[in-house]
Amino acid sequence: MFRINENYLKLPGSYLFAEIKSRVAKYAAGHPGRELLRLGIGDATRPLAPAVVDAMKLAAGEMGEAATFRGYAPDYGYDFLREKIAEHDYRRRGVAMQPDDIFVSDGAKSDSGNIGDILSADNVVAICDPVYPVYADTNAMAGRAGDYGADGRWDRIVYMPCVPENNFVPELPDRAPDVIYLCYPNNPTGAAAGRGDLERWVGYALERGALILYDSAYEAYVTEPGVPRSIYEIEGAKGCAIEFRSFSKTAGFTGTRCAYTVVPKELVCGAGGGVGAAVAGGAGGASGAMGAGGSVAAGVSLNALWGRRQATKLNGVSYVVQRAAEAVYSEEGRKGCRAAVEYYMENASIILAGLKKAGFSAWGGVNAPYIWLKAPDGLSSWELFDLLLDRAGVIGTPGSGFGPHGEGFFRLTAFSSREDTQKAVERIAAAGLL
Ligand SMILES: Cc1ncc(COP(=O)(O)O)c(C=O)c1O
Repeated sequence: MFRINENYLKLPGSYLFAEIKSRVAKYAAGHPGRELLRLGIGDATRPLAPAVVDAMKLAAGEMGEAATFRGYAPDYGYDFLREKIAEHDYRRRGVAMQPDDIFVSDGAKSDSGNIGDILSADNVVAICDPVYPVYADTNAMAGRAGDYGADGRWDRIVYMPCVPENNFVPELPDRAPDVIYLCYPNNPTGAAAGRGDLERWVGYALERGALILYDSAYEAYVTEPGVPRSIYEIEGAKGCAIEFRSFSKTAGFTGTRCAYTVVPKELVCGAGGGVGAAVAGGAGGASGAMGAGGSVAAGVSLNALWGRRQATKLNGVSYVVQRAAEAVYSEEGRKGCRAAVEYYMENASIILAGLKKAGFSAWGGVNAPYIWLKAPDGLSSWELFDLLLDRAGVIGTPGSGFGPHGEGFFRLTAFSSREDTQKAVERIAAAGLL
């Protein structure tokens, strides 16, 4: 008799967006003709850059000719794209990177979820709270999260509170996790981690033999000089971190689908567990069996494991899409993508300035397309949701949907049109919430 993976039964329903949809539908039915402004979306809305579209068309034409037709793409991505990524996203920013450290995929969501395939089910996982929900849910599916309590917490996950007092960058946890998810610039708080923050984390991971899973899907939104876009800007990170990147928010590929994951060849797990440079006495049994340059003889290369996983479970990303992604790095492509990001960031600064002027406490919006708003007067996230919908016709996302420490906060996004963004800010300011 077959059995299902019972971990799935422990998952809370995908309550957040279903509940938003249902509340909005009910409100709209009762208020026909009321214009609703959607600042809850975490999806690109600006069109693809013309250079990207041209590259797609050209590649589609090639697929229609016998001489240039392509079948299955290479498992890890075409060399033309991996080379561009290594050059533009890393080497030109002063980080040494080889194309074979890079694995092209269809999304950072799938990669950040699938990475657990190569990690032991026994690992203790730490996540920021609040954060993109995929990390907790995928670990729960793999049986790494334990049980889900009435308090909205998984009992085997280490929650690292991200609150105004720590600028939404967590303190190092006492209970040493084996795997640490960090997401900066952050969804949903819009916070960025500084160099000093990341140095602390890399030092901690190396010392404890922990692995950092660094989600940098919003790196293109960093505007402040000195804010790292990649964990590998920090010395030693190649020995303890995997990085997820995506063309989704960088180049408007949410519907086109292309991303990549960096697993440096230096990243090796010793026989007794523990990752990164060997440090005597490190938790997790950092055994000293760390190989240089990904030598499997001296330890297990995570690059090799992830390569094995991808080659087995992924049949590559389409040629047309990879040519489109390659065009993101052309001069015209870069200009086009930059223009879209700047459009969103102008929206972000309109929201942030408007909220602050109206007297709200709000964060983010400087290095990320998200603004994190404190619900006034001790309102819960959902109470604020209902009030904003009713009084302003504005739809946002209750912070409690991103983790227990999101309660009492609210996320607005910069992905709407300029007109709707401006109108939304005016309406929120006039809603009499303060
Ligand atoms: C932090 C974070 N990582 C990854 C993703 C998903 O990226 P992709 O579209 O490449 O799957 C999102 C999407 O909202 C996100 O917020």
